[in-house]
Formats: sequence, structure tokens, C-alpha cells
Amino acid sequence: MVKIGIFGAGYVGLSTAVCLAEKYDITLIDIDPEKVGSINNNRSPIFEKDLDDLLNSALKNKKFEARLFSDKFSPFDLIFITVGTPSESDGYIDLQYVRNVSKALLYRKEEFFLSNQQTLIVLRSTVIPGTTNQFFKLFETKRLARIAFSPEFLAQGTAIHDTLFPRRIILGTNDKETSMTLKEFYFDFYNKKKIPLFTMTIESAEFTKYIANAFLAMKISFVNEMADLVEKVANAEIDDIIQGVGSDPRISPHFLRAGIGFGGSCFPKDVQALIRFGENISAETPSILSSVLKVNENRPFRLIKLLREELGDLNGKKIAILGLAFKPGTNDIREAPSLRIIQALWRAGTLIKVHDPLIPRMNLQSYSRFSVEVHHNILDCVRGADACLLLTEWSEYAETNLEDLTKEMNKKIIIDGRRIFLKTNIPTNVRYITIGNPHNRFTPINHT
Ligand code: UDX
Repeated sequence: MVKIGIFGAGYVGLSTAVCLAEKYDITLIDIDPEKVGSINNNRSPIFEKDLDDLLNSALKNKKFEARLFSDKFSPFDLIFITVGTPSESDGYIDLQYVRNVSKALLYRKEEFFLSNQQTLIVLRSTVIPGTTNQFFKLFETKRLARIAFSPEFLAQGTAIHDTLFPRRIILGTNDKETSMTLKEFYFDFYNKKKIPLFTMTIESAEFTKYIANAFLAMKISFVNEMADLVEKVANAEIDDIIQGVGSDPRISPHFLRAGIGFGGSCFPKDVQALIRFGENISAETPSILSSVLKVNENRPFRLIKLLREELGDLNGKKIAILGLAFKPGTNDIREAPSLRIIQALWRAGTLIKVHDPLIPRMNLQSYSRFSVEVHHNILDCVRGADACLLLTEWSEYAETNLEDLTKEMNKKIIIDGRRIFLKTNIPTNVRYITIGNPHNRFTPINHT
């Protein structure tokens, strides 16, 4: 049976590992003893749809185990590297974890590699062009292993589905033979399913991942800027417009949902890293990418502006926040717009109440300094509030009746950063404000 080692038990490594464990012998390797222990005890450190079930069956089938980096290993046919590539404080990509794996593979080559260059190392971490060859080419020149770069395109909340049914596979290698070996592996795993597969050089594959993310981020910033124009015009509505615009296949309607901007562990970090990379190689700042980030950084303050237009001075006002995660389906709050909104509210002197369906599985350390009042029940969170800001489009919120939701609020003001209540029945005594739609904005209501 093919024996696979996966370095890095983050959400990419873990999702990949439990999916591959259906068919292969998997060892998931990490430096964090707590993570390793929790995975082996059938407790996933992250929340991801279907992950708990797959982890459970992988452990039961005994073809899967998590191990510490410091343990002893015996050689693998295939090594996937899925360690994190976070940002340094100046936005440059931090490659320390990739470097550490490369060093360990070299120093402990007998443990990891089969003889005669039979082991294939596949880097899947997002890295700037040139990185794979910079850290791994020596394994080819020393004839220790072959190397490839094959990016992942997993989105949080659908990581398992995206692993099992990828939209495309990108395969970057330095030679055709390695490309064929990896192609055969993918054919075997995907049971010859017809998945578009593109072979290219390693550098092109590295670029493909960045440019795909940068383009999606650009679509979001673009639609958000357009939404700001649309909401100033009576009777105009951004979703109707996007339906018309996106029906042109050259544009497509996807990733054109207006809102409070993108967050998460990928888009902000990857656009920033590509800007720094561009500056390094061309001595110029890529201007479109810079604008994408600038528009996005201002999004949370749009919501605060809308709130001020309703409440005036925010000092001492009670504000309820529904949704902390950067998107539904995940407990991840990295770079979530909620953090910047809460920080701005705190500076303005408001009392902040928060709710998120996954609060029990969130690490709220970064929010605690803003003295937020945490609620596990939606109605408790909004009770007595002067306004409610909706920040994540969880179905729990969309299914709530606005009349019930606002019943015990001090002022019935909803500012909907994700436009989820727009198509519902909005009671006449509720002041409903959303992005990209002038609803209510021309008809002030006296709440006193
Ligand atoms: C993204 C890419 O989709 C994935 O292919 C890549 O591998 C990693 O980065 P992810 O960060 O999990 O995945 O989430 P995604 O669903 O892309 O959303 C990112 C952010 O953009 C979220 O904050 C989301 O709310 C926001 N978004 C997305 C919008 O504001 N509007 C949209 O139309 C789409």
C-alpha cells in the first residue's frame, strides 16, 4: 500500500490526511504535541464539515495516525508538505516552517526516503514563486527524492468536499517523469474521475495559486466598491445588478457578493505577500493589488459609519454583534472583519455583546481585551441593544424572524453587513440598513 507522510496538521494537512486515509497508509506529522494528541484521541482541533466523521473512520481503520516531528519514522513513497506560511509583520511571507521541514528531511534522509530517488516530495503550502526549488531542488541534485509543487484550493467550511472533488489539479515539476508519477497518483486517488489537470513548471504552479487568490480577492473588493455607489441611488440594488452583470460568462456571478470584506487565513495574507514579492522583483508596488487591500481594510469602517448615521455619538451605546467567524461554516476568526469592527466600537466607548454559533469552539483571546460580553443565545445577545450588527451570514441568523429578533432591543436597528435579511419581511417598525441597497436610507424613522 502507498505510504504517505504529511507534514503539518493544519486545516489543509488534516483535511487531506483524513481523505487520503480512505485509500492509503497515512502518517500526519506535526510539531505540536497537543494537536497530535487531540487528533489521535479523535478530537479534531478545527471545525470543518464532515471532518469529525472521516477522522473517526480513519482512526478506526488503523491506516492513519498523527505523530510528532521528533518521533522516528520509516521511509514514505510520497511526502506532502502542508505547513503554514504566515505573514511576517511587514507582510513578507514567513518561510520558517517550510525551511525546517526541508532541513529535517535532509538531516534525517534515511528515515524519510526510499532508495533510488523513489520518494516524491510534494509541496502544497502556499509559497512565493521560486520557493520550492530554493528549498527542495537539492533533493533532486543529490538524487535523494523527486520534487513537485501542487497547490491546494481548499476553502474553509468545504475543505473535505474540495479535497474529494477538486475543480482542477495543478501540477508543477522540473521534469516530465515526475509529472507522470504524480499524475498516476492523482488518477488512482480520484478513480479516474474527469478532473481538469494542468502540468507546468514549478514556478508557474506557485504563481497559479497566488494569482487565483488575488483575482478572487479583487472581485470582492470590486463589488464592494460598486455596492457603495449603488446604495446611494434610490431603488438600485447590487444583487440585481450582479445578476445582470455576472450572466456574461466572461465575468461570472461568483465571488461578487457585496459585504464587509474578505477575511480568513488566505486572501489578506496572500495578496499582501504577492505585493511584497512584486516589489522585490520589480521595484514597483503592484497597484491593483494594493487597491484590493485598501478597499478591504476600509470595509469594516463603512459599517461603523452607517451605525453613526443612525445613533450619532456611540459612547455608552449598547451594540449587539451577530457573527464573529470570517465566514459561516468555520470557527476561524483569523483576519475576520468582526475583530476590526469590535476594536472600532470599543474605541468609540460602546458596550459590546457578541454571539456566534461556534463560540464554544473559538479562541476568543484577541477579543477579550475589548471587554466583550459573550452570549450563547441570539436573543440574549440582542436584548437591550441600541443596534445589532450582522457580520457573518450563518443560517441560524437568516432563519430568525426579524420581529422576534428585535422584540426586546432598545432600538430596533439592524445593520446587515451580509445582506441576509434583505429578501425577508422587514417589519415597518424596524430600521433595516444594509450594504449595496438604499433601503430605509431615504426614510428616517423616529425611535424616541
Ligand atoms: C479562499 C479560497 O476560496 C480558496 O480557494 C483558497 O484555497 C483559500 O482561500 P477561504 O479563505 O476559506 O478560501 O474562504 P472564501 O470562501 O474564499 O472566502 C474568503 C472571504 O471572502 C470570506 O471572508 C468571505 O466572507 C468573503 N467573500 C467571499 C465575500 O465577501 N464575497 C464573496 O463573494 C465571496
